[in-house]
Amino acid sequence: NEGKLWGGRFAGCPSPELEALSRSTHFDWRLALYDIAGSHAHAKALGAAGLLSADEENELHRGLDVLTDAFTSGRLQPSESDEDVHGALERLLIEEVGPDVGGKLRAGRSRNDQIATLFRSYLLDHARVVAALVLDLVDALAGQAQAHHGAIMPGRTHLQHAQPVLLSHHLLAHAWALLRDVDRLGDWRDRVRSDSPYGSGALAGQSLGLDPELVATELGFTGSSANSIDGTASRDFVAEFAFVCAQIGVDVSRLAEEIIVWATREFDFVTLHDSWSTGSSIMPQKKNPDIAELARGKAGRLVGNLAGLLTTLKALPLAYNRDLQEDKEPVFDSLDTLEVLLPAFTGQVATLTYNTERMAELAPQGFSLATDIAEWLVREGTPFRIAHELAGACVRAAEAKGTDLDGLTDEEFASISPALTPQVRLVLTAQGSVESRDGRGGTSPRRVLEQLAELRSVATVG
Ligand code: ARG
Repeated sequence: NEGKLWGGRFAGCPSPELEALSRSTHFDWRLALYDIAGSHAHAKALGAAGLLSADEENELHRGLDVLTDAFTSGRLQPSESDEDVHGALERLLIEEVGPDVGGKLRAGRSRNDQIATLFRSYLLDHARVVAALVLDLVDALAGQAQAHHGAIMPGRTHLQHAQPVLLSHHLLAHAWALLRDVDRLGDWRDRVRSDSPYGSGALAGQSLGLDPELVATELGFTGSSANSIDGTASRDFVAEFAFVCAQIGVDVSRLAEEIIVWATREFDFVTLHDSWSTGSSIMPQKKNPDIAELARGKAGRLVGNLAGLLTTLKALPLAYNRDLQEDKEPVFDSLDTLEVLLPAFTGQVATLTYNTERMAELAPQGFSLATDIAEWLVREGTPFRIAHELAGACVRAAEAKGTDLDGLTDEEFASISPALTPQVRLVLTAQGSVESRDGRGGTSPRRVLEQLAELRSVATVG
């Protein structure tokens, strides 16, 4: 059992089958620098507690720096016999500084508090990366909104024509949802950052007089775990992170679905840029929205990672159980997925060309100005219940005549109700309709400009 972290009480070696099952270095090696940072901090705590001489502590820091350099240059690799990143790094450190000093580092810590801490550190760093990528997408949406400010499109509910809206308003709706995801990452960060589990030991804490707050501060946390059992057993920070990744995937997927539909010949709202779309191996004419489709597909994968993780956690007794090792791959996958997907998706969004003429032409169609008739009647003194009935009667009459609402004559309006005077025509344009929706959050050009400024003022990594 040489080289094992736990050889003492075993007479025989672990079977190769057990080793193969147990090994996690193929996925946890990416945590190596975080484990080394934890070791530096832990060495300081051991020194401060009088458990290492100044020379010993310095020698450990030196050895750890050698490992850092070797890792950074790609020379440091785990061996077949290493179970996990922690064991591999301890073996490599001992090779560098010798067993007398190297063998002192493990005092007062367990892989259980180690992994719980360094997985937090790793995710804290990547939360910033993801937040910045989401903000790039928000920025691309804001840029398109600004470039097309004033363009009118059919607003839909149930995918049916509902009311005309500004294209900029619609694009910013996606941006606000994504900004909330950035906010969620910020909330998550504040919670995780205040809870460094180092010092929890295996589950019960440590007896060596180590200062968990010292380690926490060294690692950039604002505080240490109040409960050592919770510190080593909880993984809600992983699940919550996976949720935010999944929500980002879902928000991106909703926009992706629209881009796919908008790019169809039937809609013809957008043209994809050549560099951000793909062709077909057999049909020479094809131009496909693959980025949007991959985004939609990967949302399923992100949701799956969250569901798998929650299923692993469900019904696990306290404290640490080896099942918890299954927390890493799904979240690594979610991060890898987003870190590849978001730059491509942002590029596609930023380079879309909008067919604003066609959007404007379709905006008033499908009786989408019926609500404007009803609200005009209300402004003229008709109770809304009656106004709704009368506007509905206008739709029925126009449908029977085979025209849109503005195809009805003054006489036809008057025959529906004397309240429908020729002035009603003032609201029978898409332009008039959007301009009239001038309350905060509404689609009037003035309000959307205000909204764009508001969005830009809050769209930063907090
Ligand atoms: N590699 C493990 C994990 O990721 C940490 C090791 C804890 N192992 C143990 N036998 N207590 O959860």
